[in-house]
Amino acid sequence: MKNKFVNFDKKINRHSTDCVKYDGLVEYFGTNEAKPLWVADMDFATPKHVCSGMRNKLKQQIFGYEIPSSESFNAVISWQKRHDLELQKENILFCSGVVPSLKVAIEAFTEHGDEVIIFPPVYFPFFSVIKDNGRTVIESQLELQNDKYVMNLSDLESKISLKTKLLLLCSPHNPIGRIWSKDELETLNDLCVKHNILVISDEIHSDLAFKNFVSFASINENCLILNAPSKTFNVAGLNTSYAFSKNNEILTKFKIYAKRDHIVSLNSLSNVLIQSCYNNESEIWLNQLLTYLEENINYTNAFFTKYLPKIKIIETNATYLLWLDFQDTGLKHKEIKDKLLNEAKLALNDGITFGSNGKYFFRLNIALPKSELKKALANIQQAFSIK
Ligand SMILES: Cc1ncc(COP(=O)(O)O)c(C=O)c1O
Repeated sequence: MKNKFVNFDKKINRHSTDCVKYDGLVEYFGTNEAKPLWVADMDFATPKHVCSGMRNKLKQQIFGYEIPSSESFNAVISWQKRHDLELQKENILFCSGVVPSLKVAIEAFTEHGDEVIIFPPVYFPFFSVIKDNGRTVIESQLELQNDKYVMNLSDLESKISLKTKLLLLCSPHNPIGRIWSKDELETLNDLCVKHNILVISDEIHSDLAFKNFVSFASINENCLILNAPSKTFNVAGLNTSYAFSKNNEILTKFKIYAKRDHIVSLNSLSNVLIQSCYNNESEIWLNQLLTYLEENINYTNAFFTKYLPKIKIIETNATYLLWLDFQDTGLKHKEIKDKLLNEAKLALNDGITFGSNGKYFFRLNIALPKSELKKALANIQQAFSIK
């Protein structure tokens, strides 16, 4: 590729490819007539050099069990330097997914009946991994202040009990597209240290940052970070992720439970995937992707300001997911949902699935060619303009 311009305008037909975003529409939305702007994957091709790395691997013809190679560890170590983290091989554990790792972390670091903190609106598996493991969810809802979400740490502190053992941080935060600042993370860390609460930070969106991303590991090494190339390079279906901690006790405990739950075996493409995603060539591709995403975000912001000022977009500084606030439209949540799906013919994520304070909100995925984004926005305009 080497500095060549990546064509993110190219339309790729994903229908009938068994991808959940398109072919799962009937199951999840009851129709296949809507344009899918929901699940967090992009309508852009994975970088060519990553695809060609995997094609070479396919030439091996045998796809047996794999072990993580030292090149894969080195790739993670050098990629995480982007976030000012200095890791060693011993700090890293490869896993088959971030959500399975969240589940394992709950098992490893809490007992039945213990409490785990989350900040809704938040990526919906954060609720289920806690509840399904027989632990109690402590919700500290994010607060919208001047169109920006903030944590309410005094609310959080008032909810902490002796049973509160863990905090699941989403950083950057899905669905609001927010990078937590160093100050915010430090204040949160002080509170967690005071109450002896371990932080598990899901940083899967950390490469998709439009301003400086701060890893929780740079605030306090005594935590567990979960990450993956999935979102950045559009390879979520390859189930390859990793966990890391500089605290040996934390990583060892996590590893015991991860092995017990069988989430540590790699698939045959994982090694090549990690190595071809985490290198200099990818850095060039990623910079172009970020520019394209930012243009799409700016276009969407300008569109709503001009044509649909009652629908607000929460200010974002990470990811390709926009959090749309319909509160000023005066419509009921169900009416908004109906208009989006049945009039605009668009499938967006329903805000309620991210927590009760997601009512009147919907999540829009803007990682698609501009021409397609423009058509989708025009549909929203038609559905929501006063008739
Ligand atoms: C915050 C967050 N964590 C985890 C995941 C999924 O991770 P995985 O596919 O590795 O389980 C997503 C996918 O959208 C996500 O947004």
